[in-house]
Amino acid sequence: MRRALQMEDNMARKKIIAGNWKMNMTPTEAVALVNELKPLVGNDDVDVVFCVPAIDIIPVAEAVKGTNIKVGAENMYYEEKGAYTGEISPNMLKDAGVAYVIIGHSERREYFKETDEIVNKKVLKALEHGITPILCCGESLTQREQGITIDWVRQQIKIAFQNVTADQAKTVVIAYEPIWAIGTGKVATTEQAQEVCAAIRVCIGEIYDEATAAAIRIQYGGSVSGASAPELFAQADIDGGLVGGASLKPDFGKIVNYNK
Ligand code: PGA
Repeated sequence: MRRALQMEDNMARKKIIAGNWKMNMTPTEAVALVNELKPLVGNDDVDVVFCVPAIDIIPVAEAVKGTNIKVGAENMYYEEKGAYTGEISPNMLKDAGVAYVIIGHSERREYFKETDEIVNKKVLKALEHGITPILCCGESLTQREQGITIDWVRQQIKIAFQNVTADQAKTVVIAYEPIWAIGTGKVATTEQAQEVCAAIRVCIGEIYDEATAAAIRIQYGGSVSGASAPELFAQADIDGGLVGGASLKPDFGKIVNYNK
């Protein structure tokens, strides 16, 4: 019964597959890549997002016009405007045509010292401006070996969602990305990925309620490829993927069309 309900919820949630280009592609290269991938990523069953470097947002927004592709940013600052040299505000993103923003990617947490508190401020600010956060969480290899994966991820989620209302939370996309699986070619097993995504959904149910837990979309990220996508995305609590390396290649078309 529980399993049947879970599968019903799974079918009700539209899959979302987002590319994370990271620090790759000049504006010229970005437009060429969009033109190469455009014919490969048509699939009405899924939301398709290209999260691109800030300087590529405007040319990419232009290049995806008339397609199913939405544009996302890879980061955003949590202040409205002012003396924050080098930062980009939610208004700037919105005006440039951005619909999604990756927040709290493990690379930003590690190299740019983003804390859970900063991540929370960014989530709140993005929601305030009608930009959908793709909120990243995930454990290191050491944490997995110590057996604290679920505790760690639950803590990241609880802090990230502070002061976020249930109605807002329903619109957030969570990306579970085990750090040891990012860019390593070492994809988590479907059981590992499903276990943590299910635990995240339980955590959302505890913070809010069953309806919010059933509505929120949870992606898996970490070395997703055209080969691994079908099995991963068939899991009860996995609603798509956040894709790094493979999002820069035609393989992204296979990932988006995992159900064909
Ligand atoms: P990967 O990156 O697909 O190259 O492992 C995923 C990510 O960092 O979002």
